[in-house]
Amino acid sequence: MPSSPPKTLRWGIIGTGAISKTFCLDLLIDPKTRGVNDLAHQITAVGSRTVEKATQFIEDNGLGKQAKWFGSYEEVYSSPDVDAVYIGSPTSQHYGNAKDALNAGKHVLCEKSLTVNAAQAEILASLAKEKKLFLMEAIWTRFFPSTIAIQEFIASGKIGDVERIFSDLSIDFDLPGLAPDATIINPNLAGGALLAVGPYSLLWCLLPVFPHPSPITLPTIAAQITLDSKAAIDIHTSAVLTFPPSVSEAHALLTSSLSNVSPPCEVLIQGSKGQLKFIGPTYRPEGYIFSFKEKGREEERMEFPIPTEGMGYFWEADEVARCIFAGKLESERMTLEDSITVMKICRDQEAGRANLPGGNREDLDSITFDGRRREG
Ligand SMILES: NC(=O)c1ccc[n+]([C@@H]2O[C@H](COP(=O)([O-])OP(=O)(O)OC[C@H]3O[C@@H](n4cnc5c(N)ncnc54)[C@H](OP(=O)(O)O)[C@@H]3O)[C@@H](O)[C@H]2O)c1
Repeated sequence: MPSSPPKTLRWGIIGTGAISKTFCLDLLIDPKTRGVNDLAHQITAVGSRTVEKATQFIEDNGLGKQAKWFGSYEEVYSSPDVDAVYIGSPTSQHYGNAKDALNAGKHVLCEKSLTVNAAQAEILASLAKEKKLFLMEAIWTRFFPSTIAIQEFIASGKIGDVERIFSDLSIDFDLPGLAPDATIINPNLAGGALLAVGPYSLLWCLLPVFPHPSPITLPTIAAQITLDSKAAIDIHTSAVLTFPPSVSEAHALLTSSLSNVSPPCEVLIQGSKGQLKFIGPTYRPEGYIFSFKEKGREEERMEFPIPTEGMGYFWEADEVARCIFAGKLESERMTLEDSITVMKICRDQEAGRANLPGGNREDLDSITFDGRRREG
């Protein structure tokens, strides 16, 4: 019997910066090259704050005549040729952009961090549900075959009870060399380590023990954040997460920095029977080395081929398409509750820095990270 033709998801892209480019180039790769035959992607619209940037983006990335340019985001949201909107704007803009796209009836994949606080994430989650539209934060790492294999390995019990997790993502962005208004260090755009690279360190503190907390039982957090006085953003963040005993006895240590590099092993998960050392970066694991505690047992090494074409953002795009075609409103691998939890943990890291008592958590819900920084 001939197989049915792949279903095509039509994407509208919002913002023409660095991550939009990388995501689009991955979307252009034929899914068949990664063994995916049931779906396809098409970029039908690109929206920018200026017409010039939208047309240039289409030309530079070889998107062809099928992609229409628009000098506003609103025109993408209202385009009948768009099924799903990809939001690649700075984090401070995500809430407004996602709200507008959902209100216009579009499914949404929004870059991380989904919003700047938990209250905004909760509003978006309710809106998507009310409108019966798909919404997901673009934590691409969750969709790597290597990530799925690591989760399965831990769940198999081979590692024993998870006792300690060390997870870091630090990249030296050469801060003095950056333009003062660069997105990653711009306080008004919610720049800073906590929201820019911190979500990846946090991901590996949650996945092994706390993959989809529901209802949310938050870990307690002791945190330290270093603010860069010149840029007025956080440049280093460190935290120790302690989970409710019913969830895990593990200690999870997470660190991130915008002006240092990671240690050679970025993620290390230690269990009662052995330890799992990641090969490759926190955001894109390429494999692992498992060493048994038991003397005399040989290490197990597993490596996953990294994509020869593209970066691997296509796996999250495939998930979005598959969910939308199946009529799902969220992904089981990256739920909206997951995004809300992450925002609450980030809030508690802020509280840790400010040495605010835990009882004041709710007061912080209304504070946006960019707003907090503007207040100095
Ligand atoms: N998943 C990942 O691996 C990954 C990697 C890097 C970044 N990110 C996330 O992606 C988002 C964008 O980061 P980026 O590095 O791509 O930033 P970027 O290069 O500065 O691009 C952001 C784009 O957003 C648009 N924009 C809308 N409002 C803006 C404003 N007020 N100021 C500046 N630009 C504005 C601009 O496009 P137009 O002028 O065309 O409208 C701009 O080119 C951030 O939320 C970041 O956390 C994710």
